[in-house]
Amino acid sequence: MQYHPNLNAYSGVEDLSNFTPEQFSAYCKVKLGECGKHIDFIKKNILSILPKPKRLTIAEIGSGNSKLLYRLELENLLTSAIGFELSESRHEFAEKFGIHVNAQKTKNVCASFLDYPPPPLDLVIGVDIVLQLVAPVSQGSEKSALKWMKDSIKPEGFLLLELWSFENIINQLDACNGNLKIWEEYQIDDPWEFCLANITRMKNNDIKWDKTFLKRGSTQKSSFTNILRPYSQKAIKQKLMENGFTRIKFFNYWSQPGDCSEGEYIVLAQ
Ligand SMILES: C[S@@+](CC[C@H](N)C(=O)[O-])C[C@H]1O[C@@H](n2cnc3c(N)ncnc32)[C@H](O)[C@@H]1O
Repeated sequence: MQYHPNLNAYSGVEDLSNFTPEQFSAYCKVKLGECGKHIDFIKKNILSILPKPKRLTIAEIGSGNSKLLYRLELENLLTSAIGFELSESRHEFAEKFGIHVNAQKTKNVCASFLDYPPPPLDLVIGVDIVLQLVAPVSQGSEKSALKWMKDSIKPEGFLLLELWSFENIINQLDACNGNLKIWEEYQIDDPWEFCLANITRMKNNDIKWDKTFLKRGSTQKSSFTNILRPYSQKAIKQKLMENGFTRIKFFNYWSQPGDCSEGEYIVLAQ
């Protein structure tokens, strides 16, 4: 695969050398806690309509630190899980996280899911805009990703995506002559304190998102660039239908109103 900024955008993220043992354990606790809304959603919209035993074979694409897979395992909702994550630092974090929570059913693979033949799965998860990072990488990436998902899901299985329409960002870009800057502050348990995002629009309408992070209590900085593909609900529905998905539902929140950021939405397809 040719070089694209999205392929190493997350290298160094969750680097274990940035965490003392106490910070690591506190951070894992917070990350597991953040998945309560996903668990509520999966129980309500997927597990409730499956026959017993209600356990799933799952792959998560762009699994990051694998927090969601570990939370699913801790809730006894997994038969087995595989998390695909490109970033070595995040993969290493996920491996240590797995030991920390004594995970036995979750396997982490440090590679693109596209390089692995799809296994038969009950559920493919792509939360936090993963598909929108994968699609811009090359001309065929979007098609390959949708085909991989379709081919790996069993006939009655599910695809669960979290996407961002970028409508709010596109409106702000239009109002700011095509260049938007946003500051963000992270929670106290995060080793990074602030992020400055510089956002512009590319010729093909993908969004270029440059981020600079400032370390807590230090002058250390770290930067990366993401190219993100916006999808309206209409556009993703069309693409999913073209790729063989039929029952496609949209949700504006996971568990309760306001638990998705503005412009984010959830897609559940079969
Ligand atoms: C926005 S993060 C989301 C991480 C995680 N799902 C979460 O919710 O915290 C996207 C992740 O996808 C990973 N990624 C991007 N393309 C990938 C690919 N083709 N295969 C596996 N991982 C990928 C990135 O390295 C990054 O860690």
